[in-house]
Amino acid sequence: MADDAQPVASSPSAPEPAGFPQSVAEVREALGRVGYLADEPAALVAYLAQRLGKPILVEGPAGVGKTELAKALSRATGRQLIRLQCYEGLDEAKALYEWNYRKQLLRIQAESADPSTPPGGSAGPDRQTGGDPRSPDPWADIFSEEFLLTRPLLQAIAATEPAVLLIDEIDKTDQEFEAMLLEVLSEFQISIPELGVITARTHPIVVLTSNNSRELTEALKRRCLYLWLDYPEVEREMEIVRLHSPEIDEQLARRLVEVVHMIRQLDLKKPPSIAESIDWARALLLLGADDLDRSVFERTMSIIVKHRSDLDVVAERVGLKLGEPSLGAEAAG
Ligand SMILES: Nc1ncnc2c1ncn2[C@@H]1O[C@H](COP(=O)(O)OP(=O)(O)O)[C@@H](O)[C@H]1O
Ligand SMILES: [Mg+2]
Repeated sequence: MADDAQPVASSPSAPEPAGFPQSVAEVREALGRVGYLADEPAALVAYLAQRLGKPILVEGPAGVGKTELAKALSRATGRQLIRLQCYEGLDEAKALYEWNYRKQLLRIQAESADPSTPPGGSAGPDRQTGGDPRSPDPWADIFSEEFLLTRPLLQAIAATEPAVLLIDEIDKTDQEFEAMLLEVLSEFQISIPELGVITARTHPIVVLTSNNSRELTEALKRRCLYLWLDYPEVEREMEIVRLHSPEIDEQLARRLVEVVHMIRQLDLKKPPSIAESIDWARALLLLGADDLDRSVFERTMSIIVKHRSDLDVVAERVGLKLGEPSLGAEAAG
């Protein structure tokens, strides 16, 4: 059946559309224009990934902009975003494709109810001659594209327009899934026994993210460009916060980020991430707080610290410091 079937995308790889970035700076600017402030290493990897056609593996703590990097790349390049959210137990049927059994069954029932089909015609896989000209062989018919449910990996491979493929939180899957993925990422093709081999027409930009909850295999790492995203420096985090909350006063933004950095130094279960800094800034704006004194801090710290035991540590260590003149001079005044 595989020989005479029409693959979803069979044409030889068409040349990539023009518009590859010419420099790291260009990538950084393009990302900046769509609201992603990349540091040098992130811009470099994003540039190389596009030029070398290699997947990016981004690791780092939660909330530092791993997922957003892929989304921003999609916005910056005008490519559609195809996202595969990983979870424990994710299998090929949800990642690659599966057959639409319900629809196949309905078609078989319809065929056997159709009086123009010769008796016994659609009850077995033997090829028919004559009969209904629309579907000489219902068994071949039900393994066609019409009955295929495409999942993100196949969508990205079969896409006719260039795409960004985000494989988010790959560390949540098991090694078996990783091995399957490796095959897709090295060949950029997917073999469907009933249909044939589907080869990528356009090379997607692939971004894999991991929260580092388990060590990924060497084989996967070897195939990817590696980017470790960490909490940013004060200056860049301030820029990010102000990008998301343009109305915030610069002094307040700086103070907020400095306090967040101070909290990250403590030994916490879950240190606050960029996402929390952004939320905190928004909350302070809404509450009309123009400074971060001890009382504002104590009222709002649950926005950035979300574990019971962490709250105690932070209240004691940071709350106290905010009362000190070195950090709380304006607050005290
Ligand atoms: N460099 C950045 N520029 C702009 N926004 C950022 C940046 N890094 C993170 N963010 C913001 O921080 C939040 C969390 O980012 P996200 O990508 O979801 O984190 P992760 O996937 O690493 O857990 C998002 O709202 C995102 O917009
Ligand atoms: Mg994420």
